Amino acid sequence: MVDDATDPKTDRRTDASGSSRLIVTIDGPAGTGKSSVARVVADRVGLFVLDTGAMYRGVAWLVLKYGIDPGDEREVIATLDAHSIDLDLSHRPVHILVGGVDPGEALRSAAVERIVSTVAALPQVRTRLVEKQREIAERHPRLVTEGRDQGSTVFPDATLRFYLTASAGIRADRRVAQREREGQIVDRQEILASMEARDRLDRSRTDAPLVKPDGAIEIDTDHLSLEDVVDRILDRIRDHGDVS
Ligand code: DC
Repeated sequence: MVDDATDPKTDRRTDASGSSRLIVTIDGPAGTGKSSVARVVADRVGLFVLDTGAMYRGVAWLVLKYGIDPGDEREVIATLDAHSIDLDLSHRPVHILVGGVDPGEALRSAAVERIVSTVAALPQVRTRLVEKQREIAERHPRLVTEGRDQGSTVFPDATLRFYLTASAGIRADRRVAQREREGQIVDRQEILASMEARDRLDRSRTDAPLVKPDGAIEIDTDHLSLEDVVDRILDRIRDHGDVS
């Protein structure tokens, strides 16, 4: 773990190597482009990226692998605690190993999507993954992290917090296009229904529900390209200074 200190010249927290801490959070519902935006932003200004959805998907994958009831917190936690979840942020997209195994494309499967919000609503699952996310930020203090609760719960003291939105139809179209690029044949109606069901669960859970964090910068992406969204975020990051 890296020790944090405050740089007396900039009054910013620094890690052991002397670089100042720069945490950017990007939250929002499924299909708003968070992952793609986070990756491009991070590349442009030399930050690491953390896809926290992949961590919840990893737990859902484990639940399927062992045939556990996704709502049974005791069973899910016992299984999670018996497996390590390791992420390699130097790999793009992030490399995630669940119990030493790379689930690969299975993380994006319809079976995982059907249960991931149920698993993500379990408070003890969240406690464990949030702890891991904060540890990762200690090791990679210059980070773009994306998910549902990064700005509201996990890093409320982040340097900059963004919240992306888009209408349901547009989010479904983007998800269809993404899956087709990956070579999958998909049904738009099914994608839309599955996304809306997940959003409902993500917004209504009691522990760290999907909300716009107080004070976050909201970007409605309906009529914006990926590049437009990236530019808006980069402008704010550059205003903040401390990036190339
Ligand atoms: O971003 P994604 O579609 O890969 O996320 C998968 C699921 O994980 C999503 O339905 C909600 C959950 N999730 C969460 O609860 N908290 C996060 N920080 C990230 C994802």
